[in-house]
Amino acid sequence: MSEVKTVENMVNITIDGAEYQAKEGEFILNAARANDIFVPAICYLTRCSPTLACRICLVEADGKQVYSCNTKVKEGMAVTIDTPTILEERRAIMEVYDVNHPLQCGVCDKSGECELQNYTLEMGVDSQSYMIPDTKRETTNWSSVLHYDPGLCIVCERCTTVCKDMIGDAAITTAKRGGEVLDKAYKDTMPKDAYSMWNKLQKSVIAPSNGTGETNCSDCGECIAVCPVGALVSRDFVYTSNAWDLKRVPAVAAHSSDGAQIYYEVKPTSIEDRTEKIFRITNEWSFVSLDGSARFAYDFQNTTASKDETSI
Ligand code: SF4
Ligand code: SF4
Ligand code: FES
Repeated sequence: MSEVKTVENMVNITIDGAEYQAKEGEFILNAARANDIFVPAICYLTRCSPTLACRICLVEADGKQVYSCNTKVKEGMAVTIDTPTILEERRAIMEVYDVNHPLQCGVCDKSGECELQNYTLEMGVDSQSYMIPDTKRETTNWSSVLHYDPGLCIVCERCTTVCKDMIGDAAITTAKRGGEVLDKAYKDTMPKDAYSMWNKLQKSVIAPSNGTGETNCSDCGECIAVCPVGALVSRDFVYTSNAWDLKRVPAVAAHSSDGAQIYYEVKPTSIEDRTEKIFRITNEWSFVSLDGSARFAYDFQNTTASKDETSI
C-alpha cells in the first residue's frame, strides 16, 4: 500500500485493490458502504447488532473468508468483495431462499421493492439445485395492525432484531417451524454457509414472544418497515396496491410529537375517483423509527374538515 496519511481514528484499508480510509472499529460492510461499494447484505440493520442470519455478506479479509457485517476493519486490511468461492456461496444462499418460496409475486405486496427479487436477479439465479417438501404455514394476524405470512418469510430476523434493539419491546422471536429435515447428502455437496442457513430456515418461523399468538406490543409497525419481503405487512395495506403504483410524498409525521420524517404513499382512490388517497406510510428505517401514530394514523387526514366560524 502506498503511503496514505491517516486521519485520527481512521485506518487505511484496500477494497478490491483500491485504497480507502475507514473509521476505526467500523464493520467492513459499513466501511464499504461509506465508500459507495456494494456488498450484498440481507439481515444486517445499520442501527442494530449483527445477527449473522443470512450469511450473504461474505468477503475475504486478509486472505480469510469473513462476514463483513460483523468483522471490524483494521490498519492495512486487504478486502476482496468477490472471490469465486464467495460468488458460489452467495448464489447457493439465494437458491436456498428461493426453494419453495411461493410464486405469487404478481399479487405480493412487496413485489417491485422486494429484496428477495432483487438479490435473486443480482446473483443470476435462473435455475434451482436444491429441493425439499414444503411445510404448511398459516397466515396470521398478530395484532390490529400486523399481518404475517410465514410462507413468504425468509427468517432474516430483521423484524425481531429491530423490535429488540431499536424499539425495546422484544415482542417477536423465532419459533419452531417443524420443517422437513435436510437430506444429509446436501451437507457434503453444497456450500457450507448456504447449508447452515438452510438448516436454520427449515427449523424457524417468527411468532409473538409471549406464546399467545398475539403481540400485545406498542404496534409501532417498525418490523413491517424493515421486512425485506412480503411476509410482514400492515393489515390496512395487505393486497390493496402494488408498490410501483404508489407515489411517495415526503412529509413530517403530523400525528406524533417528534416530527419524524415520513413518506405518504398515495395513488388515485379508484378508476372512477381520481382523488389521491393515502395507502400507507413508510420511513427511511435505516435512519429513523416511527411510532404507531406516525405510521398508522393517516386515516385522520383533515381533507374534509373546515373551521366552524361561529364557534371561533
Ligand atoms: S417476517 Fe420479514 S423481517 Fe421478519 S424474519 Fe421474516 S422475512 Fe425477515
Ligand atoms: S409493531 Fe413494533 S413493537 Fe410490535 S412487534 Fe413490530 S416492531 Fe415490535
Ligand atoms: S448481512 Fe451479514 S450475515 Fe447477513
